[in-house]
Amino acid sequence: MTEVNRVWRLHKRPVGELTDDVLSFAEEAIPAPADGECLFRLNYLSLDPTNRVWMSDIDQYMPPVELGAPMRGVVCGTVVESRSPAFKVGDVVSGLGVWADYQVGSPATVRPMGPTGPIPIVDAFGTFAVVGPTAYFGLLDLGEPKPGETVVVSAAAGAVGSIVGQIAKLKGCRAVGIAGSDEKCRWLVDELGFDAAINYRTEDLPAALARTCPQGIDVYFDNVGGSILDACLKRMNLNGRIPTCGLISSYNATAPVPGPYNYDMMLMQRLKIQGFIVMDYANRYPEAIQALAGWMAAGKIKVRQDVVDGLEHALTALKKLFTGANTGKLMIRVKDV
Ligand SMILES: NC(=O)c1ccc[n+]([C@@H]2O[C@H](COP(=O)([O-])OP(=O)(O)OC[C@H]3O[C@@H](n4cnc5c(N)ncnc54)[C@H](OP(=O)(O)O)[C@@H]3O)[C@@H](O)[C@H]2O)c1
Repeated sequence: MTEVNRVWRLHKRPVGELTDDVLSFAEEAIPAPADGECLFRLNYLSLDPTNRVWMSDIDQYMPPVELGAPMRGVVCGTVVESRSPAFKVGDVVSGLGVWADYQVGSPATVRPMGPTGPIPIVDAFGTFAVVGPTAYFGLLDLGEPKPGETVVVSAAAGAVGSIVGQIAKLKGCRAVGIAGSDEKCRWLVDELGFDAAINYRTEDLPAALARTCPQGIDVYFDNVGGSILDACLKRMNLNGRIPTCGLISSYNATAPVPGPYNYDMMLMQRLKIQGFIVMDYANRYPEAIQALAGWMAAGKIKVRQDVVDGLEHALTALKKLFTGANTGKLMIRVKDV
């Protein structure tokens, strides 16, 4: 192999918003797989809000990335060399890897994606690797939506949120999305079938929630925390449920973030608020993938990939998640499968 291996490494822990010096990008030798491993070439790199969390030395659900280590990411690649019976050359694998053109994988970190039927690999990777199962288990297991109930989701035009609202509709609920632009709101209602959408940047949120959720909120799927959580808490119905999926509004915080001001609603309305990490559901992934694949193939769930070409643009692209410049699932494409 004569091609070089470009690798992103954590150079500096970020403080506040992501800056260009937190990662370094350099050419290195292509690694050699050991017995039981394969070498694969990157096709797609998923960019996720949690990348920002992994860069910080804070309490979290996985060890933070070590300073100087390759940046961790969810990846999709093609096997070019195998020293494991689990992989054949040409297999398309996905799982946890690093931001690099070439990397080694083992059965503990990646697995072959297998046939994806009518669903293009880019959509299968974009949806099944993380965000689809997150939406599926967070909404159905923790949100427990019932027909006729109102489900509100924040970051609704993002990867997880756009799927949450569509599953809510399939379950017979009223789906209301909160997003950061009029264009995103139009996409949610006109293309994805949400009943209503609120632009939290331009509208008065409590008034907009009162207008779009006349029967109150039964499930608030929280992707952002902060003031949006507070506004939704105030409108929760008795025995409402809040799956805490993400807190993106605080991932760049430089000082302790105050708790929700409307926490009293938890007591008054007997709410159930529960955090989860999709990895908790690793054993049930096939269930989510089967359901999502069926809905996608039948046109009942639409997915959108926000694809940026070139591994060299990964850090710049990651910033889009924090400015709201992405719609749907953000990823880097190095080479189509
Ligand atoms: N628990 C888990 O296992 C799990 C798994 C995957 C993701 N997550 C979490 O789920 C959330 C969504 O992730 P995703 O991958 O689907 O990302 P995404 O929604 O595709 O992208 C993030 C979106 O968040 C919105 N946002 C950014 N800063 C905000 C702020 N200060 N206030 C309100 N909205 C803000 C932006 O949209 P606007 O234009 O609408 O502002 C942006 O497009 C994140 O919090 C993530 O950490 C959790």
